[in-house]
Amino acid sequence: MQSNVDLTPFNTLALPAIAERFIEAQSDDELQEVASWLSQEAVVPLILGEGSNLVFRSRQVADCIHIRSHGIRVLQECERTVEIEVAAGEHWNSVVEHTLQQGYYGLENLALIPGSTGASPVQNIGAYGVELSQFVTAVKYYDIETARAHWLSNDGCEFSYRSSIFKKALKQKALIAAVRLRLSKVPRVNTAYRALREELAGTDSPNPFQVKEAVVRIRQRKLPDPAEIANAGSFFKNPEVNEEEFARLEKEYPEIVAFPTGQHGNRKLAAAWLLDNAGWKGFSNGKVGFHNDQALVLVNHGAAFGDDVLSLAEQAIASIQARFGVVLEIEPAVI
Ligand code: EPU
Repeated sequence: MQSNVDLTPFNTLALPAIAERFIEAQSDDELQEVASWLSQEAVVPLILGEGSNLVFRSRQVADCIHIRSHGIRVLQECERTVEIEVAAGEHWNSVVEHTLQQGYYGLENLALIPGSTGASPVQNIGAYGVELSQFVTAVKYYDIETARAHWLSNDGCEFSYRSSIFKKALKQKALIAAVRLRLSKVPRVNTAYRALREELAGTDSPNPFQVKEAVVRIRQRKLPDPAEIANAGSFFKNPEVNEEEFARLEKEYPEIVAFPTGQHGNRKLAAAWLLDNAGWKGFSNGKVGFHNDQALVLVNHGAAFGDDVLSLAEQAIASIQARFGVVLEIEPAVI
């Protein structure tokens, strides 16, 4: 445990905040120990993986638990599938790379998503037509009120678009320790997402490695690397509208970008398109701005505090509501 630790290097938006107590857990045993301590002290901490999906509204955090546990192991395998268990502190992209090297397929579309494995089920990470929930068999967590270990099944995780039980009933209650994934040993790829299909246009029957490389190329082209430009990925969720709302919007904006959600004619609108169309892409107020190549990503130009980021986000939300009658929701966790 350390005191008064500056969290700027621990969040990819590089927002300044001080943790009064900063505790690092490097193994499952240490996580259990931390959970016991939390339950005894009745403390509700900030649980930090790689800090790639959060915004500090506050400049002071009382207690912060930094998850650094490592390990990937095979639980069981047969000819066609394998089940692995990954410790929460493993860097997500290393898991993607490692599994592909082993000949375990499925995660290629999720390459290069920043963050740790323990954070991945919280917001059910997704990209290029694939979501984490397609692979999760179970998630292990410690209840910070009782210090007990629990395993949740896939259903128990209540996954939905960029959400799970860890953002709802178990918000601030669970210390995620490990994630179990079932992957395929048979190379089957998903290239249905338009941008991915276009990137692979010259490749006949792409294999999972080629799909991963294509995803990496698109991400590197469109999304800023947090190591170079501070950001937290998509800042807003893609909003869902019903059939009538969509018909009204399409009439006024025939070029609007939307995807069917499979629910009674509902559509998911590309928030990036809404922001782009409203003129936010590339806008900067000197401290905070919208990325030049992806309007959905807010970037910190270096001197911003969380308030600066959130007030620009609120201006954008208001402008999108006024223009389209649609309310954008902030995607990262606001602390
Ligand atoms: N578009 C614009 N202007 C822009 C960017 C995009 O008009 O500045 C339009 C494009 O026409 C494109 C559409 O918006 O067809 C969708 O853009 P993109 O394919 O880049 O995906 P997205 O919906 O903006 C989502 C995820 C990303 C994920 C990509 C790829 C959310 C909130 N975001 O973005 O996830 O990488 O799809 O699958 O669902 C993240 O969550 O942090 C994240 C980066």
